[in-house]
Amino acid sequence: MEFNITLIPGDGIGPEIVREAVKVLHAVEEKYGHKFNYTEIDMGGCSIDKYGVPLTDEALETAKASDAVLLGAVGGNVGNSPWYQLPPDKRPEAALLRIRKELGLFANLRPALLYEELSAASPLRADIAEKGFDMLIMRELTGGLYFGKRYIEEIDGKLTAVDTLTYNEDEIRRIAIKAFEAAGKRRGHLTSVDKANVLDSSRLWRKVVHEVAESYPDVSLDDMLVDSCAMQITVNPDFFDVVLTENMFGDILSDEAAAVTGSLGMLPSASLGEGKLGLYEPSHGSAPDIAGQDIANPIATILSAAMMLRYSFDLDEEAKAVENAVKKVLREGFRTGDIMSEGMEKVSCSRMGDLINERI
Ligand code: IPM
Ligand code: MG
Repeated sequence: MEFNITLIPGDGIGPEIVREAVKVLHAVEEKYGHKFNYTEIDMGGCSIDKYGVPLTDEALETAKASDAVLLGAVGGNVGNSPWYQLPPDKRPEAALLRIRKELGLFANLRPALLYEELSAASPLRADIAEKGFDMLIMRELTGGLYFGKRYIEEIDGKLTAVDTLTYNEDEIRRIAIKAFEAAGKRRGHLTSVDKANVLDSSRLWRKVVHEVAESYPDVSLDDMLVDSCAMQITVNPDFFDVVLTENMFGDILSDEAAAVTGSLGMLPSASLGEGKLGLYEPSHGSAPDIAGQDIANPIATILSAAMMLRYSFDLDEEAKAVENAVKKVLREGFRTGDIMSEGMEKVSCSRMGDLINERI
């Protein structure tokens, strides 16, 4: 089969990790007889440098017209990069929000999985880490505080900032359906996370999620308050299968869930809408401090490419082949610096890509 992929190398380590993912996709093309056509676009700081904006309309149109988008990372050092002297809507991250919204990518899937081989790197107490965990955070991505009205005004001589958290029932229903579908294909357990003891948006969230639940009798549903969830992720991570939550809570909880795996460099993500078009990117950022040194971990991007094969192209077997190749390389003891431990062999970013490539 033939597919058109928009590549966004982006900033920092983005170009090096995307290069390795493309390498692995080449092996998939050869082994399974597919053809992937790539179009590269600029997004983030590199686009600001060239065009003065973090995402041009032309680049956005290219992404919209493709079958899937594979992204490295965008953004730089907030402390000293000139990109962060610009107004908020012109900074690298604004491009991320814009592409999510314009492509209608309301469902953000962030798996947080403790790899047995890497469990020693987890900051969790050994008896908790030993039990392992495998959760999928399903974060709403195009609503809530991120896209509500915001402004700063002066009231009674005091600067006053306003951010609004809005959800309508349709926005909640469509992400809830995605979450129940995902849970049905996993262990059949969904935890919906909200702050219904305080927020109206959460009370509506809970009501709609329970309505959707009636169509999924095989999935067990529980509600959890977000503060409690933050705590349970550290003391009881194996409780969770699919975690469904709104945009802001999902941003925070997904970083926490990633952190307790101890290997952020391993975690992929997918952002999906109603159709097949999706955006795939590692859960980590652009790591400008190690950019260009060939020491970054390309695995999260390679696993994001596997998610692309599965969700946008329906190539399940090919996706598994990539995931198995990653597991094999880990079992054989190869590690990039971020996941290095005693007795293992330390390899560069490009060598890690080669090793996975050879095992497809
Ligand atoms: C993420 C990031 C973004 C977000 C930032 C960079 C705007 O933290 O993808 O989780 O908050 O969504
Ligand atoms: Mg985040």
